[in-house]
Amino acid sequence: MALTRIHNLSISLDGFATGEPQSAEAPFGHAGQRLHAWMIATRFWDPRGSDGVDNAFAERHGPGIGAEIMGANKFGPPGWQDDPDWRGWWGPNPPFHTPTFVLTHRPRPPMEMEGGTTFHFLRATPASALETARGAADGQDVRIGGGPTVVRDFLAAGLVDRMHVVQVPILLVRGVRLWDGLEALEEAYDIEMVASPSGVTHLTFTRRIPS
Ligand SMILES: NC(=O)c1ccc[n+]([C@@H]2O[C@H](COP(=O)([O-])OP(=O)(O)OC[C@H]3O[C@@H](n4cnc5c(N)ncnc54)[C@H](OP(=O)(O)O)[C@@H]3O)[C@@H](O)[C@H]2O)c1
Repeated sequence: MALTRIHNLSISLDGFATGEPQSAEAPFGHAGQRLHAWMIATRFWDPRGSDGVDNAFAERHGPGIGAEIMGANKFGPPGWQDDPDWRGWWGPNPPFHTPTFVLTHRPRPPMEMEGGTTFHFLRATPASALETARGAADGQDVRIGGGPTVVRDFLAAGLVDRMHVVQVPILLVRGVRLWDGLEALEEAYDIEMVASPSGVTHLTFTRRIPS
């Protein structure tokens, strides 16, 4: 059965998946690139990068994925909905290469990009968005790409089968937290942990009862 998966979701020690304020100049606010420095250093990101534990986890992001769902604040900086020419952060050939569903209260017509990515804009509940994405995923898995608000909503609705969280040894103190409102989430998952020599901790959540 096709799964709903999350990969490479990086959080600070105090649970923030982005800093503040988010802007065109600083997509992660005061967090800068610190949440993803571990990933940028891997071969997954850069052919000259490392090939160790971090790369082994990072590489699991793509295989078997047939569609992605992301939040409006991952797709662009605050106010992107007012810019009819905004086509996402990633240039003409975004790294998704599948149908990609952007949850927003201000939908617009689909955008076909190079390389197989088409952005679709949806105002829908998590369950309904997942049904739509599954229909487009050609039998493959659906990835929930973030940010934390959308991930939290899908977790709260019990819709996530596999989740890879990377705990980064920094303290952000402000931003958007991942875990708020998810008390006892661990009861629904088998959780494993691998400490990387880079200093980050990889956590895998495997749903006990498939959704
Ligand atoms: N740490 C990581 O690994 C990671 C991963 C991905 C992204 N990020 C970062 O996380 C930040 C974005 O996260 P975020 O938590 O601020 O926001 P987000 O989850 O990307 O998006 C939340 C927004 O999506 C729209 N939305 C959510 N659910 C919806 C629904 N059911 N129907 C319609 N619209 C819906 C709403 O925007 P509107 O009301 O404006 O339409 C909502 O404010 C960015 O800085 C991004 O770079 C971090």
